[in-house]
Amino acid sequence: MDYLQILREIEQEISPLKNEGEVASYIPQLQKVNPDHFGICLQFLNNDCFGLGHCDKAFSIQSISKVFSVTMVYSMLGEMLWQRVGVEPSGTAFNSLVQLEYEKGIPRNPFMNAGALVVCDILCEHFDQPKDELLKFVRHLAGDQSIDFNIEVALSERDAGYKNIAMANFLKAYGNLHNKPSKVLETYFFMCSIEMSCRQLAQSFLFYAQHGQGKSLYPLTESQGKRLNALMQTCGFYDEAGEFSFKVGLPGKSGVGGGIVAIYPKKYSVAVWSPRLNKKGNSVLGLKALELLTSKSGLSIF
Ligand code: DON
Repeated sequence: MDYLQILREIEQEISPLKNEGEVASYIPQLQKVNPDHFGICLQFLNNDCFGLGHCDKAFSIQSISKVFSVTMVYSMLGEMLWQRVGVEPSGTAFNSLVQLEYEKGIPRNPFMNAGALVVCDILCEHFDQPKDELLKFVRHLAGDQSIDFNIEVALSERDAGYKNIAMANFLKAYGNLHNKPSKVLETYFFMCSIEMSCRQLAQSFLFYAQHGQGKSLYPLTESQGKRLNALMQTCGFYDEAGEFSFKVGLPGKSGVGGGIVAIYPKKYSVAVWSPRLNKKGNSVLGLKALELLTSKSGLSIF
């Protein structure tokens, strides 16, 4: 199959949608991005790699980082992790608070902000410098030491982060944060500010395409690797997880920086980036590009 040709066709076919959606503005620093950028990188396990557009430009990975942090704590805690965070889709927005009271401070899944905060709390329990340990892991997975935080984005999110701050305090009140909320929140805000390109993301997600097998600072069993992919499939897009399964048919994760990364188990990973988001906070062009990719190539898991 001529994958580069498929990517070129996709770039053409998505162009009528290029002005749809809005760049995330609730974190003021995120608004500084050029809304017209588009990049895609398709990375196969056999090392074939096809990139197009702004696929080498680093952007704010935001919630995509939650996959890396949950990998670390799953590797360290094993199945005990699920005593503090659930594995059910929420059907609600990423920053929703409503279920947390009914469910007594146990977040539905690790990709909701509440779940990601509990994961950050576990990182704080295990490491003196949790955010540096996380960065080390991301650099290791991507094989690239140049990956870094964007401090302005982290501070901008902290300044505007009233909902996350409320959520961390709420979790603390239910006994599901063991550290000070401020320490957990700092880890969370820096984690979300990591910047990576589509190429770096696709490279790092080969780990998940291999069901978490292969050399890793935080190894997973094959079963754990499959389970993380199952979580991406069912929860990676919050209240749009069904739509993503329906139209794209791959486990994946999105972020409000406009990035989406997805994997086809045992075959490939793909990362796409375009900053304009739909109402549910997912990249408009990114979603369409991945839908076209799996339709044209016939490579979806369904
Ligand atoms: O918590 C926040 O608001 C952001 N730092 C992360 C949000 C995000 O990317 C949600 N996913 N699409």
